[in-house]
Amino acid sequence: MASHDTIRRSTGVTGSTRRLGEAPSPEILDPAERMGVDELRALQLDRLKWTLEHAYTNVPLYRKKFDDAGVHPRDLRELADLRHFPHTTKADLRDNYPFGMFAVPQERVARVHASSGTTGKPTVVGYTREDIDTWATVVARSIRASGGRPGHKVHVSYGYGLFTGGLGAHYGAEKLGCTVIPASGGQTAKQVQLIQDFRPEIIMVTPSYMLTLMDEFERQGIDPRSTSLTTGIFGAEPWTEKMRAEIEERFDIHAVDIYGLSEVMGPGVANECVETKDGLHVWEDHFYPEVLDPVTQDVLADGEEGELVFTSLTKQAMPVIRYRTRDLTTLRPGTARPMRRMDKVTGRSDDMIILRGVNVFPTQIEEIVLGLDGLAPHFQLVLTRDGRLDRMAVRIEAAPDCTSDRRAALVREITATVKDRVGVSVTVDVVDPEQIERSVGKFRRIIDNRPKE
Ligand code: DLL
Repeated sequence: MASHDTIRRSTGVTGSTRRLGEAPSPEILDPAERMGVDELRALQLDRLKWTLEHAYTNVPLYRKKFDDAGVHPRDLRELADLRHFPHTTKADLRDNYPFGMFAVPQERVARVHASSGTTGKPTVVGYTREDIDTWATVVARSIRASGGRPGHKVHVSYGYGLFTGGLGAHYGAEKLGCTVIPASGGQTAKQVQLIQDFRPEIIMVTPSYMLTLMDEFERQGIDPRSTSLTTGIFGAEPWTEKMRAEIEERFDIHAVDIYGLSEVMGPGVANECVETKDGLHVWEDHFYPEVLDPVTQDVLADGEEGELVFTSLTKQAMPVIRYRTRDLTTLRPGTARPMRRMDKVTGRSDDMIILRGVNVFPTQIEEIVLGLDGLAPHFQLVLTRDGRLDRMAVRIEAAPDCTSDRRAALVREITATVKDRVGVSVTVDVVDPEQIERSVGKFRRIIDNRPKE
């Protein structure tokens, strides 16, 4: 499929330039991080049987879906049998708004979170006390895999509230034994002051907001390389190896990828290990991953790229069965841990732009524009319609010292590289400094000004 090819091109691993961190000594890992693969599969099978039974017994939607598909939880004899069970989608959560997907009585639900979609009602998720503890465990494991240790100070700039980023990071950092600085998103100047005064080792934030912080450090005349930070744990939106290189260089830190989604738990479903930075280990003792062909919906073998699907293995309040994430990735065998890895998610099937028949992901443009001399790392993609033709403009900011000759050269260079590597013609606008909106959380990379159909 064309979309698969285009993604593969954009992920191009640049391993040789990566700086790697120090591995934790084995005795501080969770038992599941040291399990053999056979033992892990046996644990998953037990937990999967429990989950299917729990969902079937307690959630009317799952009972109906299983009955309609002619399957029963006892039909699962081995892990591969999961492929016979029906999927769950965001629409299922919306249709059962707010609490219809919960599998426990409301008084056992200790917390809810919600994610706002682009349209209509948010999707609501719930957690029992045990679920919150499981979540804290996987986030603590993620922070440790990134290089965090008990006693470190962790500055959390993910938003606190219904979004899972802030509170998810917070509970995990506390569980690891860290000191949490719950900064939340926004108030950028104050964040810089807090980092200067409290001297955290770790920051947890979206990669795009890290760039906003970088600008603020520079505006205040502080060299971002001089801070106390050693490690950033970045997620909640796609980011590329180019962005990693940019952040690592500009801040002199390790930039590590954390992945998750509210429907499955929140942050901490998968995380990179700082000693390898070779994809994100899925914490498979709690989340069972599959990759599907997005068109045929067949389960693909490890090593093939497709849509990531998750089944929760231990969640009580809101088990999810084969939840379709829309995120595109590939599963690979474990390296630093026995659990499988997923490739960096460089696109969602629903933020893929189809421009005159060619599939384009914002991350492909990021790979091309980041790191070019004379540009700031801030860009947006603006879509318009001209008659029946869709057009895309790449708006990117000039660095303050960029001359007009250099700007013109950049326009020519980016236009030609996008045409060559992505296969589409775009217009390129190199705009004055400070002209592109800054991220305070998840960044809106695409401005779609096309008329609604
Ligand atoms: O973004 C949870 C999270 C918070 C993850 C903080 C990491 C850090 P949602 O708001 O439900 O949850 O959005 C989930 O964000 O399906 C992906 O499309 C995207 N996403 C999350 N992490 C990554 C990542 C949180 N590391 C959706 N790389 C997911 C690429 C990511 N995309």
